[in-house]
Amino acid sequence: MHLFQQKDALRQYLGAAKEQGATIGFVPTMGALHDGHLSLIRAAKAQCSQVVCSIFVNPTQFNDPADYEKYPVTIERDQELLIKAGTDVLFLPAVAEMYPEGLTAPARHYDFGALETVLEGAHRPGHFQGVGRIVHKLLDLVQPHQLFMGQKDLQQCLIVKRLLQLIHSPAELVICPTRREPDGLAMSSRNLRLNAGERQKATTLYKTLSYIKTRLAAGAPLPDTVNAARLQLQSANFETDYLEVIAVQDNGIILFPDKPVPGLPMYAVVAARMQGSAVRLIDNMEM
Ligand code: PAF
Repeated sequence: MHLFQQKDALRQYLGAAKEQGATIGFVPTMGALHDGHLSLIRAAKAQCSQVVCSIFVNPTQFNDPADYEKYPVTIERDQELLIKAGTDVLFLPAVAEMYPEGLTAPARHYDFGALETVLEGAHRPGHFQGVGRIVHKLLDLVQPHQLFMGQKDLQQCLIVKRLLQLIHSPAELVICPTRREPDGLAMSSRNLRLNAGERQKATTLYKTLSYIKTRLAAGAPLPDTVNAARLQLQSANFETDYLEVIAVQDNGIILFPDKPVPGLPMYAVVAARMQGSAVRLIDNMEM
């Protein structure tokens, strides 16, 4: 695996590879890798001749400084996992390499429309602008044929789809299924920060989403089902930022219908934390 920490060196390497006909698959990450990330690497390997992974804990997308400070960093283990998975290139830049203009310099504002004001956007002000800013920089640098991201961050995928349009990027976004632990917990780097008791209870989110799916499939009314699921989370001592069933239009717009919308993919989406826990968990499930 080739390791680059400087943009120029990576640009040079990728330029030469493309001249020789390479197709580039790109997996942007913030490290603390788990099998969810590795499934993206595997998907990229199956479709592209060169797989580039970036590890960069992007400060501009953290609305909570404590979350940034505590974001897990497991760089040596990450490198071993990436080598085993057959990754061709790891890009591991420092903050100054990605933000030579400084973190507080005025930045482009991306017009993500209503996508940015609901769900994660409503609870994490500025988060998606920060995601847009770093993903734009990484795309400009890597210029991949395909970009691989996980459905676990469904709204982020919709934001990046919109970003690709805004910046006229020809890269194709490939959304890969969420990987889960045996008890259903969605794999996430933040799971490393759960203590043993929290880890055991964290599967409640998966159970809640599965409950909604089963009830809706049986024809139960959507609002009653979601209300019952909210109460379940509350009685399991979760503080819920949101628990909704959404429909996603082709153009990425999110709807909050009160009954299933034929022809549109529907998802139950949740963000919650256990009372007293520092770790906020998100998950979603297609209905
Ligand atoms: O999903 C993530 O890990 C990050 O939001 C991303 C896409 C790498 C941008 O920093």
